[in-house]
This record gives sequence, C-alpha cells and structure tokens, in this order.
Amino acid sequence: MAIIQQLRETTDYIQRLYPHTPEAGIVLGSGLGNFAAEIRIEKEIPYSELPHFPVSTVEGHSGKLIFGELGGRKIVAMAGRFHFYEGYSPEQVTYPIRVMKLLGIQHLLISNAAGGVNPAFKVGDLMLITDHISLAIVNPLIGRNHTELGPRFPDMSEPYCKALQQKTKAMAASLGITLREGVYFGVTGPTFETRAEYKMIQVLGGDAVGMSTVQEVIIAVHMGLPVVAISIITDLGIREEDNIITHEEVLEAAAKAEPKLSAIFKGLLAGL
Ligand code: HPA
Repeated sequence: MAIIQQLRETTDYIQRLYPHTPEAGIVLGSGLGNFAAEIRIEKEIPYSELPHFPVSTVEGHSGKLIFGELGGRKIVAMAGRFHFYEGYSPEQVTYPIRVMKLLGIQHLLISNAAGGVNPAFKVGDLMLITDHISLAIVNPLIGRNHTELGPRFPDMSEPYCKALQQKTKAMAASLGITLREGVYFGVTGPTFETRAEYKMIQVLGGDAVGMSTVQEVIIAVHMGLPVVAISIITDLGIREEDNIITHEEVLEAAAKAEPKLSAIFKGLLAGL
C-alpha cells in the first residue's frame, strides 16, 4: 500500500478516537518520561493499536501517543520514539512525524539525549540545536519522492526554525535557565562513539552527538513543518582517561534535567 494511503488510514483512525486538531507535536527523548505528567491528558493511544505504525520489537517499549493540553495548547506527544538502531527503516522511524503533521500540527518540539563534544559543555546542560550534520545517518528521503508530502530536493539551509529558536532562547532566559546552543551530529548508534570518533565529530563541527532527531527533522522540513529541538547533554565524549559511558547514566542525567526542558517547552507553547 502506498504510504499516502497508509497515513490516511492512521490519521482517520486517530481522528475517530480524538476529534480535535493538535497545534503542536512533541517528541519526548530518552529519560524524559516524567514530562508526560505535565500534560493535561485527554486521550492516549498505544502505538500497537495504530494501523501502519511500526511494531515495537522490544517488550515494554511500545510507547504511545498522548493527546491533551500543555501551556494552554492542544498538543500531541510521542512518549517513546523509534530509532534506526532498533532495526526500523528510516521510513518507519519518521512515520509518526508525518502522522502528526497530517493531524494538523503547526510546530514540532523535539527533545533528545546527546553526548557533549563541545569542551565547554557539562552533563545536565541543555543545548538548543541550531543546525545538524546528517552525513553519518541514512537519509529518510532516499527512494521515491512522494510529491504530495514534499519536494524531491528539500532546502536545508534552515532546518531549525529561526523564529522558534528566538522564542525558545527568550523563554529559557526568562526562566533563568542556561541554554547552550550548537550543532547536533547525527549517528546511527547503538554503540557510543570511540574516543577517536568523538574527537572527529568535534573537528567536523559538532557540539553534541546523538542517535535520533536528524531523520525526524529531515521529514519535518520535507513537509514544511517548523521544528525546534533541544538536547540534554547526558555524557561527555571528550573525557577523562577512564570515563566509560553507559545507557543508565544517560537516562539518569536526562531525567535530572527534565524539569528544565519541560518548563521551556511549556512556556514556549504558551507563547506560540
Ligand atoms: N553518543 C551518541 N548518542 C548519545 C550519546 C553519545 O555520547 N549520549 C546520549 N545519546
């Protein structure tokens, strides 16, 4: 079945269960489960229930769409995202982004956990993504272009909406939260980077490195959907001799920084 038809079936299904138009979509990154508590929830739909949604291979990791209100706006949030390293195709990884756009969202707020390579960064910092480097990932637009969704050769000179970046910076400042800025370097994972790789990423212009987001942003840009994205710096690639990175410390650092991220996103939504 053509993807357009699949998307229509998914959105029809959702609209029967939740007949409202969300204004913004939110992607919750690793360790940001608590963020959902901020949402005045109106409807939750498990991914496993949605026609054509990728089927989760990991038990207990199925995830759900949360519909409700945050910052006085109708939103849809993805609690759990699909990663390329889990074995999903780039089209599957980005399928929910297309669904949210077709449901009517006008803004996409993305969060993620990332490793810092900028030597000024510390664990727990938030970084507003100003740009990304996608050359180490598989571009999700490879293959036949669906002109109904967007152009064959999308411009990528401003993948992260300038106006949303300004609003985000202003909101962080008004909340007294330090917000770093930088370039997100996308990788596939699931290995964390070697010392040589972290160094290379820094030399190539990355400030942080992570295993998500870039494919989602490319699909959003393809559809003309304005994006703002914030990384939580959960570990440091440029590091001490015996500093080993674990998934547990990534989740812990993300959970600790989560209230700062929630406050910024909530304030940003209220000011849209
Ligand atoms: N590298 C890649 N992805 C990550 C990292 C990292 O150091 N930390 C969190 N996600």
